[in-house]
Amino acid sequence: MWRGLALLSSISIVLTAATMQEKANVPSADVIEARQESMDMSSSDAIKAGREAKTQAYSAAALAKWAKTLPAMFPAGTGQADTSTNSQALANIWQERLEFEKVAADYARATTDLASFAAANDTAGFTKQLDQVNRTCSSCHTRYKAGAQTPPKK
Ligand code: HEC
Repeated sequence: MWRGLALLSSISIVLTAATMQEKANVPSADVIEARQESMDMSSSDAIKAGREAKTQAYSAAALAKWAKTLPAMFPAGTGQADTSTNSQALANIWQERLEFEKVAADYARATTDLASFAAANDTAGFTKQLDQVNRTCSSCHTRYKAGAQTPPKK
């Protein structure tokens, strides 16, 4: 529950930061830090497999909300090489923007389905879908996040 609340409030911070950046030219460091925070909140701590699906409905809905806004959190000028803020966002996010948005849309779809399984309290479906969601995290990181390309060490 607390994780869910934290995720929701982090989403509003992110959205505010994105809007502020557009309107008032708030430093891109704020956007970068806010999106990293949301990424941290969306890692598997927030949503647990092996529990009754309906107990995860709140967190799953929050994740689906964040997933839809994800591309907006990568405005131009906030890549790894663009600012002094520590970031792992690779330049190809902007070089092949349509592809990036397609990968983000796959993720958004997967999280929306996850939220539906949770709302329907379909625990088996939810558990399977959680794997699917995790795959969409990885397929974006492999292409667009620094440090995710190295194969895991044995
Ligand atoms: C559409 C692309 C995309 C998807 C989908 C995506 N990420 Fe990320 N993620 C990124 C990028 C790009 C960064 C680097 C952001 C930066 O450092 O500015 C990142 C960074 C992170 C970080 C590091 C945050 C930090 O503190 O530096 C974590 C953890 C993370 N993602 C987890 C996840 C999880 C878990 C999911 C799925 C539930 C996910 N991500 C889905 C693109 C994505």
